[in-house]
Amino acid sequence: MENKDVNAEVMDKMTKVCICKAITRDKIKLAIKNGANTLDKVKEETGAATGCCHGFRCKKKIEKLIEDHENGEF
Ligand code: FES
Repeated sequence: MENKDVNAEVMDKMTKVCICKAITRDKIKLAIKNGANTLDKVKEETGAATGCCHGFRCKKKIEKLIEDHENGEF
């Protein structure tokens, strides 16, 4: 595995996509890889977007990750 892949993985583990619920990008990506291909499914699977801002701060980021996965980026 290349260094930049390792760095990307570390960043995924450290970056919180859903701040309210402290859900990392790593967890969101895993849910998407396991078939959560809509915002509602990611919500159900991870609890993201169910915090006090009701997804105001994270919905767009989750939708972008779903899109990235559809484009084969991870
Ligand atoms: S940041 Fe995800 S619900 Fe608030």
